[in-house]
Amino acid sequence: MEKLQVASEHFAKIVEEQLARVERMKQDPGPVDYETMDKIIIGCCGGDGIGPAITAEAERVLKAVLKDEVESGKIEFRTIEGLTIENRIAVNKAIPDDVLEELKACDIILKGPTTTPSKGDGPNIESANVAMRRELDLFANVRPVSVPELGIDWTFYRENTEGEYVLGSRGIHIDEDVAFDFRVITTQGVKRIARAAFEFARKNGKKRVAIITKANILKKTDGKFLELCYEVAREYPEIEADDWFVDIISANLINEKVRSGFEVFVLPNLYGDIITDEAAQIQGGVGTAGSANVGNRYAMFEAIHGSAPRMVETGRAQYANPASMIKAAELLLRHIGYKDKADCVIRALNIANETVKLTGRSDGATGAEFADCVINNL
Ligand code: IPM
Ligand code: MG
Repeated sequence: MEKLQVASEHFAKIVEEQLARVERMKQDPGPVDYETMDKIIIGCCGGDGIGPAITAEAERVLKAVLKDEVESGKIEFRTIEGLTIENRIAVNKAIPDDVLEELKACDIILKGPTTTPSKGDGPNIESANVAMRRELDLFANVRPVSVPELGIDWTFYRENTEGEYVLGSRGIHIDEDVAFDFRVITTQGVKRIARAAFEFARKNGKKRVAIITKANILKKTDGKFLELCYEVAREYPEIEADDWFVDIISANLINEKVRSGFEVFVLPNLYGDIITDEAAQIQGGVGTAGSANVGNRYAMFEAIHGSAPRMVETGRAQYANPASMIKAAELLLRHIGYKDKADCVIRALNIANETVKLTGRSDGATGAEFADCVINNL
């Protein structure tokens, strides 16, 4: 009996928190307007492993392209130290309190990869990524993937604050034999990600949004996701909405006959995590992709790969490829309204990708040489 009691109390607490979160979402005043803000503060946060090295290079590119805005005071850069695995272990928190406070004092974050200990791998600390997405309410994880020569131009709108992720560290061992994890989907949470995806489609002349679920199996949560995405789709009659199960979409992305027909995808958190790695691989690897985490108040831009601690252990951090972080910087510029500068960065990045050979080792260029090439071609 005691087991049942403990389990019910545990679950009740989770339900209570999610109901409170829904109330907060209902009060959300909507997106900030960067154009009318006196100053936009960009916090650069290196993270772990190769993070500080590649983030510093992307920061250099950003500072070069935003030189005038920094001079005029419209943009301020801040460096946020301390989001390291050592500090997080020391205070046993996904994000130490002082770091969270510094993050919240910024408007925009450029974040290097952070190490997440997996089970059995030291203390059980929640991913700093997941915590930051939750704490800053960065509900839309936007991941573009483009391979022009294959006709691929995809944009993924991954829900970023719900699903298995937000409750991933809140699972429970009932006894030595039975374990549960939880998954939550809310009306407000689905509507805001769906609206973000359809708005993007409308503003960018896209004709089709694919909704990805496994609603035949996860009938309650994915069922709700699917239903509400279609409800939002009705507000966008010029855009075709269709839905796919996550298994077949993962096959379709490598099916040359159909894949170029997809444009925008909207999908719950875990599927978004998995499918965007697959998509990034089609583009040339996870190291080539950047990712925007966008909320109404804050936004954070990052690479989609990990911190590659082995590169640091073997003394190769300076040879790490900063392309993904520079791609993140490009997304950042686009988000705060500097479209021309973003185009400029992407052009220069393409030149660097073609002319600077990085191997991840001393027989190739360094990340700094790569960034120099980007800056020289801005
Ligand atoms: C990503 C990463 C993260 C995630 C990890 C590092 C927690 O894989 O951004 O896709 O799973 O969301
Ligand atoms: Mg991932």
